[in-house]
Amino acid sequence: MATTPAPKTYRVKSFGCQMNVYDGERMAELLGAQGIAPAPEGEEADLVVLNTCHIREKAAEKVYSDIGRLKREDGSSPLIAVAGCVAQAEGEEIMARAPAVKMVVGPQAYHRLPEMIAEASAGRRAVDTDMPAQAKFDALPARRKVGPSAFLTVQEGCDKFCTYCVVPYTRGAEISRPFSAIVAEAERLVEAGAKELTLIGQNVNAWTGEDGQGRAVGLDGLVRHLAENPDLARIRYTTSHPNDMTEGLIAAHGEVAKLMPFLHLPVQAGSNRILKAMNRSHTAQSYLEILDRVRAARPDIALSGDFIVGFPGETEEDFAETLSLVAAVGYAQCFSFKYSPRPGTPAATMDGQVAPEVMDERLQRLQAALNASQQAFNQASVGRRCQVLVERKGRHDGQWLGKSPWLQSVHFAGEAAIGDLVEVDMVEAGPNSLSGRLVATATA
Ligand code: 5AD
Ligand code: SF4
Repeated sequence: MATTPAPKTYRVKSFGCQMNVYDGERMAELLGAQGIAPAPEGEEADLVVLNTCHIREKAAEKVYSDIGRLKREDGSSPLIAVAGCVAQAEGEEIMARAPAVKMVVGPQAYHRLPEMIAEASAGRRAVDTDMPAQAKFDALPARRKVGPSAFLTVQEGCDKFCTYCVVPYTRGAEISRPFSAIVAEAERLVEAGAKELTLIGQNVNAWTGEDGQGRAVGLDGLVRHLAENPDLARIRYTTSHPNDMTEGLIAAHGEVAKLMPFLHLPVQAGSNRILKAMNRSHTAQSYLEILDRVRAARPDIALSGDFIVGFPGETEEDFAETLSLVAAVGYAQCFSFKYSPRPGTPAATMDGQVAPEVMDERLQRLQAALNASQQAFNQASVGRRCQVLVERKGRHDGQWLGKSPWLQSVHFAGEAAIGDLVEVDMVEAGPNSLSGRLVATATA
């Protein structure tokens, strides 16, 4: 491979979950610290990082078509790095199939990008899919520029081994970042302008650590500590597993005002038979009991979930139990997916794979029920007065877009600026957002 000049500009394209968004931002900061600048809009970058997701179908195919699209008319390409979970799962194969890719870097190794870029510029392709716990965070530069709402990774990986899921293989075992490192990053994010922090992890509520006094604390202890920062207005966390919903965390929802009334708690299915085959280690009933306790602590909590339809062996009766669960919960919003066999996972080789047209039809019915639930939740918010964190300008002149405490998108007109927390009366509900009327600026 020929040598190429060191890249001067970069573009990071992130797919998939919030963790990838966070990783993408950290990679951008890392490249920035190397003196590589973001490529101007519409211009080709010298270095392109494809930060991939492997959780559902067509992830790999999407990567190959993206690589193809980066090709120039003369057949050459910018320096391409494939990062994220597809890199972790299929790194060697990508190297073999796509000569244009010069670097493959897994989610636990991206702090090594600068060395890999030097290698690649010198004509040597580089793969790093090692999974050393923690090394990455220590090696990344400090955070500088953020919007009003920022992600903060506190935990990575998963030990739950749901039978359909690749995460335990691509992100590795559960690790918690140390309390002090998280607190320091939170302080830096707040100094850089963040008003809201979303603590993220594949199993964020499994986070454990030791506080400044050496006491063992869970996510609730971390939330309580972060809430003491006077310049931080809001705290959220995602994604949680029902089994790690501790009493302390549930109580925090009732006691910590800055902890927003929103809980994303995936259930996946409503049939205990299917939940067992998924290795979820909770039942529909135990899940609903958790939600009852959360609601008792914080009556206005907005609930969110993830669902999979068409898991191997799912019958019409099983699916009907999913619909009953949806009706029982009254979700504020949800994500729902067709089951996708992931190579190497136990479910991929189970009997009873469900026909695609059956999955399509079930997904449609489920989404109709979830959309109706979301619409009803939004409708019930009309007449409420709440604080909205302004995140960006709206589509029309003088219009602003922000988030309610319940994570609804709210647009309104009037005097405001990005990063303001403003008081808004919710006046009209649409399926995906609400319109509000500005009351008064609460905090600048
Ligand atoms: N097929 C379909 N959906 C999946 N998810 C995870 N693995 C699969 C799969 N193999 C969904 C789950 C999870 C969300 C992040 O993605 O609902 O909670
Ligand atoms: Fe995947 Fe289950 Fe772990 Fe979530 S809890 S990341 S669905 S294995």
